[in-house]
This record gives sequence, C-alpha cells and structure tokens, in this order.
Amino acid sequence: MSKKDDIQLLRINYLRGPNIWTYRPVLETWLDLGPLEDFPSNLLPGFSDRLVALMPALVEHHCGVGERGGFIERLHEGTWLGHVLEHVVIELLNLADMPTGFGQTRSTSQRGVYRMVFRARDEQVARSALAEGHRLLMAVVNSNGDGSAYGSTELRGAVERVRAKVDECYLGPSTAAIVAAATERRIPHIRLNEGNLVQLGYGAAQRRIWTAETEFTSAIAEGIAGDKDLTKSLLASCGVPVPEGEIVDSVQAAWEAAQVIGLPVVVKPSDGNHGRGVSLDLKTQAQFEDAFHLAARHGSEVMVERFVRGHEHRLLVVGGRMVAAARGETASIIGDGRASVAELVESQLNTDPRRGASEDFPLNPIRIDTDTAIQLDLQRQGLTADAVPAAGQEVMIQRNGNVSIDCTDEVHPEVEHIVSLAARVVGLDIAGVDIVAQDISKPLHLQGGAIVEVNAGPGLLMHLKPAKGAPRPVGRAICDHLFPQAADDMPSGRIPVIGIAGSRGTQNIARMVAWLLQLSGRYTGLACRNGLFLDGRCLDAGDCTHWQAGQRLLINRAVEAAVFENTADTILRTGLAYDRCQVGVITDLDGWDQLAEFDILDEEPMFKVMRSQVDGVLPEGVAVLNAAHPAIVNMADLCDGEVIFYALDPALDAIATHLDTGGRAVFLRQGQVVLATGNTEIFLPGLDKLAVWQGRHDPTAEDSLLAAIAAAWALGIPLNLIGAGVEAFESSAGQPEKTLP
Ligand SMILES: Nc1ncnc2c1ncn2[C@@H]1O[C@H](COP(=O)(O)OP(=O)(O)O)[C@@H](O)[C@H]1O
Ligand SMILES: [Mg+2]
Repeated sequence: MSKKDDIQLLRINYLRGPNIWTYRPVLETWLDLGPLEDFPSNLLPGFSDRLVALMPALVEHHCGVGERGGFIERLHEGTWLGHVLEHVVIELLNLADMPTGFGQTRSTSQRGVYRMVFRARDEQVARSALAEGHRLLMAVVNSNGDGSAYGSTELRGAVERVRAKVDECYLGPSTAAIVAAATERRIPHIRLNEGNLVQLGYGAAQRRIWTAETEFTSAIAEGIAGDKDLTKSLLASCGVPVPEGEIVDSVQAAWEAAQVIGLPVVVKPSDGNHGRGVSLDLKTQAQFEDAFHLAARHGSEVMVERFVRGHEHRLLVVGGRMVAAARGETASIIGDGRASVAELVESQLNTDPRRGASEDFPLNPIRIDTDTAIQLDLQRQGLTADAVPAAGQEVMIQRNGNVSIDCTDEVHPEVEHIVSLAARVVGLDIAGVDIVAQDISKPLHLQGGAIVEVNAGPGLLMHLKPAKGAPRPVGRAICDHLFPQAADDMPSGRIPVIGIAGSRGTQNIARMVAWLLQLSGRYTGLACRNGLFLDGRCLDAGDCTHWQAGQRLLINRAVEAAVFENTADTILRTGLAYDRCQVGVITDLDGWDQLAEFDILDEEPMFKVMRSQVDGVLPEGVAVLNAAHPAIVNMADLCDGEVIFYALDPALDAIATHLDTGGRAVFLRQGQVVLATGNTEIFLPGLDKLAVWQGRHDPTAEDSLLAAIAAAWALGIPLNLIGAGVEAFESSAGQPEKTLP
C-alpha cells in the first residue's frame, strides 16, 4: 500500500475542569482521518502486529471490552485510527511514568472527523504526548513492515521527551505526594505557579504549600533552621543533645577550637545543605586546611563541632509528631587489584538502579570528579580517583548523603519525643531532623547520639520511595496536618460553591443567590455574564462565565462563598471552574443552536453537556432542578446529593412524586412561594407580593426567582432572611449597575 495521508489534528482543547467527558482535566483533540477513514486497523496489513510489537503493554489496555487484551481484540477486529491514537498516547504517558487510565474517542457528524480525549494532569505534558503519539502512529501506519521507520530506539526517545516534559512542567515528587493525598481526601488543588506552589482547597478554606513548606511554616523558624549554630544553641538550652562546637574564621582558629572540643571533629558550613562542604572525622592538623576552605566555599561561615559516631538519620516531624524516619547508608567499594577507584565507583555504585540524576531516584549518582568532599575523603585514605585499590581492600566513598533506608518503626519513643521537641523549639510545623546515632532504637543520651541539624522544607522522597523498607504516607500526614478532620458538615478545604447552568435567567439567579449569601454574612464572589464581583464590588464588567474568571474567585483567600453562572459554552470550551459544588442549578437546555462549533446540532446532546453541573454536586450538596423540563428531571438520578425541584406548577408529576418520597420542592401557590418538604408546606416569610417579578416583561423571572430561593434554601440560609433579601433585591433587580462602584 502506498504512503497514507497524515491524520490532521484540527483543534486541541485543554478542558481544565469537569466537562462532557469526565470530571477531571482532559486534552480534547478534534482530528480528521482523511482517506484513512476507509482504513480501520484490520484493513492496514500488518499494522496491528507492528504496533503491538512496538508497545507490548497495550495488552493491558482493557478498552471497552473490559478485560486484559481488550484493546488488542479491537485492533484485530478493526477500529479507527483516532481510537488507536488515544491508546498510543495513553501508553506513552504510562511509559513516561504519568499513568493515565481515561480516554475516549467519538465520531462526529462529519465523516472522518473524531473527537479524541484523554486524561491530562498537565497540559504541556499532554500536548507533548499527543505530538509524540501522532508521530509514532503515522510511522507505524506507513512503515510497511521494513522496520526502518520507527523502532524501539525512536520509542525510547519519545518517552524520554515526554518524561522531560513531566520533569519540566509537573509537580516535583514531594509536592505531588501531598497533592495526591489531598485528592484522596477529595480536597481540590490549584497550582499557583509553574513550580511547586500549590493551593489546596478553595477560597477562604484553602491552605498553601510550597514543596514541603506550608503556610504555617514560620519564616523566622526557617531562618533559625538555616543557621546551624543558632539552631544548636536554642536546642541545647532546651536540653536537646547537640554536638558542641563553635564558629571559626580561620584554619588556625578551627584547629584551636578542635583542641578544646576534642578530636575527632567535623568542619562544615554553618548554612550549607545536601551535605556539601562537610568534612567528617578530622583527626590531624593537616586535614584542616582543605576542610576549612571547602566549608567556606559552601556557606557564609565555618563551624567546627564534635564528631558524633554513628549512622546518619533523617526524622520527619509533621505537626508535632514524628511520622517517618530513614537511616543513611555509607557507600564503599571493594578493590579488585585492577580497576581504579573511579571505575569501581561506576561498576559497583552507579549501576545501582536506585541511583539516577532526576528527582525521582532515591539516590544520586556519585561523581568523584565534581564532588570535592569525596576527593578529600579519598585523599585522607591516601587515594585518588585514579588509584587502584588492592584486591579486597574496602574504600569508603561516601559517608553521608544516602539516607534512604526506612527505620520508622525502630525509633525509640524518647528519640521521637526529642525530635518533635526540636521541631517545636525551632518553630517549624514540618521539619526534617538530622540525627547521628549508633542505634536509633535507643535513647540518644545512652549512646552519645545528637541532633546535628534541623531542616525546613525537607525532601520527602526518602520516605516515599525508600531504597529499603516500607514507603511512609508522609503526603497524607502533611495533608492531615493542614486539614484536620472537619468538625462541621462542610468537607475539608471547601467553601460553598454554587453553579448555575443554563441560558434562561441564569445571571439573575446567580446574582440573587450571591446577594442572599452576602446578606447571610459571607464574603461572596460572583462570576456571571454581568461581570466578576466580590461582595458586590465589580472587578471586571465583562462576561465572566468563563474558567479564568472562576479561578480568580477560588484563588481569593477572602472568598467564603462563590457563585458561578455557567453556559454550555463554558462547559464545552474549558470545563467548569471548580471540581465539585455545594449547589448545582439547571434551568433549561436551550441554546444548542449556537453550538455548531462543538458539533451540537440539536437539543439532545445538551443533556450530556449540562449534566456536568449535576455530576459535580457533592454528596453533602443539592441539585436544584427545573421540574418543568422532563430531560432535566431525569438528571436527578445523576446527583450524588439531594435534589430540590422547582417549578411554577405544583401539580407537575416530577414535583408530586418527589414530595411523595419526602423530597423538597419550591413552587407557587396563590401568588406565594411555597417551600415544601414531603407533605409539609411553608410560605416563604416576608415575601407577600411578587408584583415586581410578575410585572416584569421577562417571562422567566418567576422561574428564576424560584430557582434562586431553592438554592438559598439548599444552602441553609434562614427563610426570613431569604424573604427579606428577595424583597430588597427586587428594588434593584434589573439594575446590575447599582452594584458597580
Ligand atoms: N557533628 C557531626 N558528627 C557526625 N556526623 C555529622 C556531624 N555533622 C554532620 N554530620 C554528617 O554530615 C551530614 C550532613 O551534615 P548536616 O549538618 O546535616 O549538613 P547539610 O545541611 O549539608 O545536610 C549529616 O547528616 C551527618 O551524617
Ligand atoms: Mg543535613
């Protein structure tokens, strides 16, 4: 077969929030198969076999079939290439360690044009996986089996490029672990920069983290921890064992201090990190010259202190409790009489699969040529990188820097107590405490052990992926520290979020609900067609029914409740601004005639679009649904929370049935608003006349009023406040300018 035309990627759309496909972010691609529409996988000779040979793990893709091998079955019986592209992209993401389970491909009304989506935690990573997958697929389609086009080398390159994007764009491992723990507790997150500054939760209920620091991490405490001498003096004054020592300003002073302290000693920078510039176990004056200058290069001051015998340990304290501990391994080589030190380091140490340059590896590779501490240690042992140790001779290469063996369960309670005391004395909510001790299962004073350093913002990787022993749920510990189990009925990290979806009267509903929330004493944000408002103050007078405007409310730490007007366009173009909501209102399914761009050609697909608003309702929340619209009534089954129906006419089937089962509904009777629960009815107090609403020309005004009252009722706003609020709102209704500054 001759070379096929390319698959055209027509349009790529990152859906950041809940959308018609799923409640998670996805990358949506509109693609045109062109002539390939006539060639599903089974009609391309050898294609399926070539693809599976290249990506054998495709066998794990269950696809629609629902079992292992499902996708391969589909390949053999014939499936279109848009669908194949979806699986190729997902597999590339899996290979790049950003596993993705979700993908879907659907045809459109146009022959050969498909919409393909897959879950995308990060837009850039997803785009790069799509580009690589596209290239791979076309190469396999056109290769004709001569093997020249795209083989395992090309695949490895593609995976490397996607992985590089993950490293560049995605969260680091410590942050990702905290975010994952939050997600598990259904706490939403928003990235605030391209690095590791992340907001967990929304609005006033949020907590910020920045790698392993939190908004509770005091800047003063961090400053103290950054100064080892100051830290030690504070710890010593509270009875925490630390190695005695002092700051010195010359080689001579260092040697003199060592005489007072007693040999052997350590020379290190007062504010270094990652073990840089630390020289251990110094015994002779000759060693001080190099050690002093090395330390001086890596910090602002040099300190000399007692050398504590034992292994290095890192104990993690979160919120006053020790939650994980790891022990260091020394790295040494054994000579064979032939290979040099440098060669032995490569063959005996750097081949360790735990060693790698990226953050994802628990251990770093050892680089003798650049690591001066190792060079000095070798020198002390009378060796250099090129020296050839005798057969069987053990050479110590690295004394510290490899803390990666989990020992959480071994830590003596008294040591636990002392490290949590140390964190408290320094003032850190999250601290990595470095201890040197022979045996961590014994109290420090029985073995001359000591705390040598307290770190702010400690790395978590050694606890998440220890080289030996069990991983510890430190992300969860940090998340629980930030969000102790909620006392009230509002889920952790959440403020009331109210979404109003539809096209008729939605801005009036949104404005009234925001107004009622504001009256109930909450600092309320509103994003609607009329603009973006904070407690009535207008920040932006343009159409704010889009994702970016919504984010501005959720990021704002002052916002105690947020109301969003959502159109079908919002949901289709970017997805909803929030993951879940307290109250989701649906008024109607109109407006499909404006959505040809999204291949919506009649009312039917509108159900799929607008249901996003109901799917997102929290189990503790409420969907407020228009009972006069049969398709909307059917959405009730999709809601995880309660349903309140509203309609002018109480005789509607949907309302009657709902009330029969004890449900809640809002309707009109004799010109008054009725709030019904089962067979109990109350008139909304304070609102006698609906004259203003009824007298207006807007035919949906009464419906909107009922929807807004139902939403306010769902939010637990007192009924007399709702009544009075609606009266007060009436006078300003239709005049959004009134709320402008
Ligand atoms: N006084 C000491 N006695 C024994 N070992 C020490 C001493 N000070 C530091 N070390 C070792 O060197 C490592 C690095 O020192 P540390 O003070 O923690 O500096 P850094 O900030 O670079 O981590 C420690 O984890 C420990 O193994
Ligand atoms: Mg340290």
